[in-house]
Amino acid sequence: MKAMVRNEKLFVFALMLIFGLFSADLPFSSAQTIFNVLDYGAKADGKSDDSNAFSAAWKAACSAATQNPTVVVPSSKDFLVYPLTFQGPCKSSNISFQVIGTINAPSSPSVWKGRDARRWLIFHGVTGLLITGNGTFNGHGSEWWDLSCTHRPNMTGCATVVPMALSIISCKQSTISDIHSIDSAKFHVVVNQSSDILVQNMHVTAPENSPNTDGINVQFSQNVLVNNSVIATGDDCVSIGELSSNITVSYITCGPGHGVSIGSLGRFGNSVKVEDIHVKKVNFKGTTNGVRIKTWQIGLGYARKISFEHITLESVQNPIYIDQNYCDINGTRGNCEAKTTGVHISEVTYDDIVGTSSSKEAINLNCSQSFACTGIKLSNIKIESDKSGQQVVSECANTHGTNSGVVQPKSCLQP
Ligand SMILES: *[C@@H]1O[C@H](CO)[C@@H](O)[C@H](O)[C@H]1NC(C)=O
Ligand SMILES: *[C@@H]1O[C@H](CO)[C@@H](O)[C@H](O)[C@H]1NC(C)=O
Ligand SMILES: *[C@@H]1O[C@H](CO)[C@@H](O)[C@H](O)[C@H]1NC(C)=O
Ligand SMILES: *[C@@H]1O[C@H](CO)[C@@H](O)[C@H](O)[C@H]1NC(C)=O
Ligand SMILES: *[C@@H]1O[C@H](CO)[C@@H](O)[C@H](O)[C@H]1NC(C)=O
Ligand SMILES: *[C@@H]1O[C@H](CO)[C@@H](O)[C@H](O)[C@H]1NC(C)=O
Ligand SMILES: *[C@@H]1O[C@H](CO)[C@@H](O)[C@H](O)[C@H]1NC(C)=O
Ligand SMILES: *[C@@H]1O[C@H](CO)[C@@H](O)[C@H](O)[C@H]1NC(C)=O
Repeated sequence: MKAMVRNEKLFVFALMLIFGLFSADLPFSSAQTIFNVLDYGAKADGKSDDSNAFSAAWKAACSAATQNPTVVVPSSKDFLVYPLTFQGPCKSSNISFQVIGTINAPSSPSVWKGRDARRWLIFHGVTGLLITGNGTFNGHGSEWWDLSCTHRPNMTGCATVVPMALSIISCKQSTISDIHSIDSAKFHVVVNQSSDILVQNMHVTAPENSPNTDGINVQFSQNVLVNNSVIATGDDCVSIGELSSNITVSYITCGPGHGVSIGSLGRFGNSVKVEDIHVKKVNFKGTTNGVRIKTWQIGLGYARKISFEHITLESVQNPIYIDQNYCDINGTRGNCEAKTTGVHISEVTYDDIVGTSSSKEAINLNCSQSFACTGIKLSNIKIESDKSGQQVVSECANTHGTNSGVVQPKSCLQP
């Protein structure tokens, strides 16, 4: 008996040794790396609910011990997925979510009754996530836009809670690239409470008049690069929110939309910390703003070490804009009384910004009486009216800094 047990143990040990040594090279490794949602029961007919299949494929991939397990959403297929969370952490140090087909959100807002209507798809707590493929996330937002309180403030039962399409929350060292995101009910891509994130080669589109359909929103995050993307929506192409640092936005084609915005910050009278934000190589086409910083009067804290460089403008309404007096009165934008609070804006550089403005105020730096903007630098600015023969101007309030090179329209900075 004893000898047999020992032999068995030896045998198992030998197997483990062989497997351990050679498994990496075995052509038919038992370790599964592809998790195709079709194999987990997705119908892909655009009508059946494929949520359970997506959830099961993710769970299998996430708990797989292989290198880079990959969830595959195959081509030429239409999937219907209800609100869903893809939860980490996962066993493998990397995991991919490859979208080649189209993932559709339910189009009727009534589907969200009894569910959390703030978000459609969430990737939460994942490290080493790669969302890629040239497929599409279609948010089917049009019925939501019709209900939106932003559009219809006077309609009883208008919707204040509207789903954001894709949320990356509490993730690290992750990438989202090559994805098409269209017609989200609210923000298309949200990066929140995350660090070391690359968002690249994205195509984001929604109609110009769709409310709150920001392209990419980054907040409560560090070390984020949003690169080489085309964004045309009804709100900000990229918006950067509170408690964010080391965020770069580069090589973006933006418009139509509301431009690239830092803020709004401090809406609830909270303290914000935003720094090391770099926006460069952005082409704005027909947007309502170019590069904008907006902070609420009641906000506290700071936004500093910000640069906007190598920017081109085509018929942009407010090309260079700081609004430190943001406030609203009963839901509508108003001229509010000056407050003693404010978010301190400092060390903001504008360099090499050229093109045309569709309004008279090409530069509008509207800072607060209580917290002047300091350390503002304007250099190599050349903005003209998009209408021949018309002049553009710059307006400053409580804004201090220096100019260098050409600044046109003439700078209004105070020393
Ligand atoms: C995991 O992904 C990251 C970022 O995409 C990459 O740099 C790294 O090499 C990957 N690691 C492995 C083990 O595949
Ligand atoms: C999308 O990606 C797949 C797989 O990589 C490729 O076969 C296909 O040609 C691509 N389609 C487009 C439109 O780029
Ligand atoms: C909402 O009602 C107010 C007050 O009656 C009115 O001034 C405003 O124009 C209305 N807004 C819309 C979008 O209909
Ligand atoms: C980001 O996370 C914070 C903290 O949980 C939350 O208050 C905020 O609503 C989130 N914003 C978005 C756009 O996801
Ligand atoms: C800033 O973020 C980038 C990624 O976008 C990263 O490569 C770089 O190391 C970060 N810098 C610091 C000082 O953390
Ligand atoms: C960002 O995009 C530009 C333009 O396509 C490219 O040259 C650059 O390598 C990209 N940066 C990174 C870090 O991928
Ligand atoms: C805001 O709404 C409240 C309550 O409806 C009203 O009492 C107040 O006068 C309004 N304020 C302004 C400035 O319109
Ligand atoms: C600056 O902001 C104040 C307060 O909102 C507003 O009344 C004023 O018109 C603004 N100035 C410019 C030039 O936009």
